[in-house]
Amino acid sequence: MSQTIQSVRGMNDILPGEAEFWELFEETVRSWLKSYGYRPVRLPIVEPTPLFKRAIGEVTDIVEKEMYSFIDSLNGEPLTLRPEGTAGCVRAVIQHKLAAQHPQRLYYVGQMFRHERPQKGRYRQFNQVGVESFGFSGPDVDAEQILMGARLWDDLGLNGISLQLNSLGQPDERAKHRADLIGYFEKYADQLDEEAKRRLYTNPLRILDSKNPAMQEMISGAPKLMDHLGTQSMAHFEGVQQVLRDAGLPYAINPRLVRGLDYYNLTVFEWVTEQLGAQGTVCAGGRYDGLVEQLGGKPMPACGFAMGVERLVTLIRESGGEPVLEGIDVYLVHQGDAASRLAPRVAEGLRDQGIDVLFHCGGGGFKSQMRKADASGASFAVIIGDDEANAGEVTLKPLRANGDKPNEQKRVSVDQVADEIMNSFLDWEEA
Ligand code: HAM
Repeated sequence: MSQTIQSVRGMNDILPGEAEFWELFEETVRSWLKSYGYRPVRLPIVEPTPLFKRAIGEVTDIVEKEMYSFIDSLNGEPLTLRPEGTAGCVRAVIQHKLAAQHPQRLYYVGQMFRHERPQKGRYRQFNQVGVESFGFSGPDVDAEQILMGARLWDDLGLNGISLQLNSLGQPDERAKHRADLIGYFEKYADQLDEEAKRRLYTNPLRILDSKNPAMQEMISGAPKLMDHLGTQSMAHFEGVQQVLRDAGLPYAINPRLVRGLDYYNLTVFEWVTEQLGAQGTVCAGGRYDGLVEQLGGKPMPACGFAMGVERLVTLIRESGGEPVLEGIDVYLVHQGDAASRLAPRVAEGLRDQGIDVLFHCGGGGFKSQMRKADASGASFAVIIGDDEANAGEVTLKPLRANGDKPNEQKRVSVDQVADEIMNSFLDWEEA
C-alpha cells in the first residue's frame, strides 16, 4: 500500500463540527461589517514578491524569514503567497483608482501564509478578516475602527479582550527617536542579545518588542517615542482617545507596542487576551498614511486592522459559545421501486417550500434507514414505501419531542406534506 499524504505542517483542515463555528463567526462578522458601511473586496492570494518587500519592510521577520516566495517556473516572475492582506489591498486600490473620487471602507476575508514555527494559535496558513479605510485623515476613523472591535467581541459573546494603544508618530519624529535609541542601545551594547545586535542599526524600534527577560530593565529605560511626538501627532492621538473615553471603552497605552510591519504611523492598536497562552493578540492594526504613496499611488491617508480567525474561533469554542447547530428539517426514507421514483420529486418539492431535506442515498431496509433518520438530528422523517407511493401519499413521522403531546406519525398526501411540516413547526414554536 502506498503511503498516505498528510497536510502541510501548520496548514490545517477545518472539519465539520468545527467548520460550523467558522460559518457562524463569518455570518456575525459580515453583518457587523455591513453595519459600519464596509464593503467586500476579494483579492489574489499570490502577489508579486516586491509588493510585500516594499510594503511590510525588508528588515521585518515576515519579509526576512516567513514568506512563501517562489519563482514562477513559466515566466521567471518572483511571487509570494500573501503573508497579510494590507499590501494587496493597497495595490488594488491604486491599480483600480478605487479611492480617487471618494473615501473607501473595504474588507476582505481569507488565508494568509507565514512560515512560522507552528504552535497553538500560530499557523503557517491562517485566516484573517481585514478591514481597511482609505481617504480619511482624522482620528475619527481610527477611533471608529477600534470601537468596531469592541462591538464585535460583544456580538460574539467574548469577554476578557483588552485594548492596547500607542502612537508611532510621523516618520521624521521616528527618525529622531531612532537616532536617540541607537545612541542609548550603543551604551548598553554588552547587554544586547544577538537578535538585538542585528537590529541595532537596521530596525532598533523592534528591540523594544524583545521578550528576552535579560534585556527588560535596559529596555524600560530606553528613550520613549512618545517624548518625541510633535503637537499634531499628539493632537491626533488625543483625538482617538477622546472618542474612546466618551464611549466608555477602557484601554491601556503601551509605549512598547511597535507592530511587526513597517508601514504604520500615528495610531497603532492591538486587542489581546490572556485566554490563549502565548499567542494572545486576536486583532491588530493602525494607521498607515504613507503606504499608498510608497507603493506608487497618489498620497492618501489610510487606516485598518486585521483579526486572526483561528484565534477568535478558539476563544468562542473555549468560552463555551456553542453555535446553535440547526438540524436538518426532514430525513427522507424510501424503499421500493415506485417509492424511490417518487422520493426525489417529494424532496425537491419540499425544498421548493424552503424545507431542508437530507435524502437517503444508498438503499437499505426501512429499519436501517430509520436509524439513520434518528441519528441525523432531523425534525421529521418523511417515509415513502410503495404503499404510500401508489396512493400519492407519504408517512410523516415527527422525530423530536413536542412537550407532553404524543408525537404520532400520520399519512398525508404528497401535496399536503409541506404544509403539515410548516404547521407543526409553528405549533412547536408556540409550545
Ligand atoms: P498582524 O499583526 O501581522 O497584522 O496580523 C493580524 C492578526 O492576524 C494577528 O493579531 C493574529 O490574530 C493573526 N495572525 C497573525 N499571524 C498569525 C499566525 N501565524 N497564525 C494565526 N494567526 C495569525 C497584519 O497582518 C496587518 N495587515 C493588519 C492591518 C490591517 N493593519 C492595517 N490594516
